[in-house]
Amino acid sequence: MARFVVIGGSGRIGSGIVRELSAGGHDVSAASRRTGVDTVTGEGLARALAGADVVIDSARPPSSYGDDEVFEFFTTSTANLLAAGTAEGVGHHVTVTTVGTTRRHGIPYYEAKTAQESLVRESGLPYSLVHATQFFEFAGTIAEVSTVDSQVRLPGALTRPIAASDVAKAVARVAVGPPLDGDIEIAGPERFGLDEFVRRVLAARHDPRTVVRDDDAPYFGAVIEEGTLLPVEGARLFETRLDDWLRRTGG
Ligand SMILES: NC(=O)c1ccc[n+]([C@@H]2O[C@H](COP(=O)([O-])OP(=O)(O)OC[C@H]3O[C@@H](n4cnc5c(N)ncnc54)[C@H](OP(=O)(O)O)[C@@H]3O)[C@@H](O)[C@H]2O)c1
Repeated sequence: MARFVVIGGSGRIGSGIVRELSAGGHDVSAASRRTGVDTVTGEGLARALAGADVVIDSARPPSSYGDDEVFEFFTTSTANLLAAGTAEGVGHHVTVTTVGTTRRHGIPYYEAKTAQESLVRESGLPYSLVHATQFFEFAGTIAEVSTVDSQVRLPGALTRPIAASDVAKAVARVAVGPPLDGDIEIAGPERFGLDEFVRRVLAARHDPRTVVRDDDAPYFGAVIEEGTLLPVEGARLFETRLDDWLRRTGG
């Protein structure tokens, strides 16, 4: 039976991937610092990947990191994972990444993801890059970084946000299939301006901040265009609608 290792398997997406694969009867283990595996220092990595057929990388740096640290995290962690995977003869390396990284964007976090993607493409390992749009669960973080004097200022740039549970489903499906040696984009069923997306989530949480549309406001450090965050034509669309998710979870 194929053996799956989910790096960042305790995280929001990683834990969902572990659940999906376990429910499908697969042999899967979660690895991250809390299980003694640090992809940045390399500690525990060879042991974690021993006998692995498929490695899924869903690690993310701590949110306190600055732009340079984020870049360093994704490049070092990915290079270490790819080297360990090559040594182990891994047959499929799957990376969770972001929609928009293949466009011109100027967003420092996305530059780091683009560098991560290039390392994977050039590694020689069979791979799949799964690009997801903004997770519903990420709306609070978007609001936090976009708050100025208790007002959330966000551009009306369009996105198709997606539930984290749908991302986990999509990544697990890709992981059990043959390597794409390419990219797939996944997104939610509805299109919103970033301002409207965050406004709906904050309203459901009874958050008192108002959300103001400001097309000149930066999104994670860059002023973006209306289509920067939209998935490509032919992206795989998932079913969970924002209002249904809000009713179920309260945001
Ligand atoms: N947020 C979004 O809307 C969005 C959209 C598209 C794509 N993505 C991508 O989706 C991926 C997963 O995001 P997420 O929200 O699920 O992240 P998350 O909940 O913050 O989880 C991050 C995981 O990485 C692990 N980790 C951190 N440092 C590590 C290290 N040095 N070595 C090994 N593991 C480490 C953490 O576990 P420990 O603390 O135990 O190490 C945790 O399991 C990221 O690549 C992100 O860029 C996010």
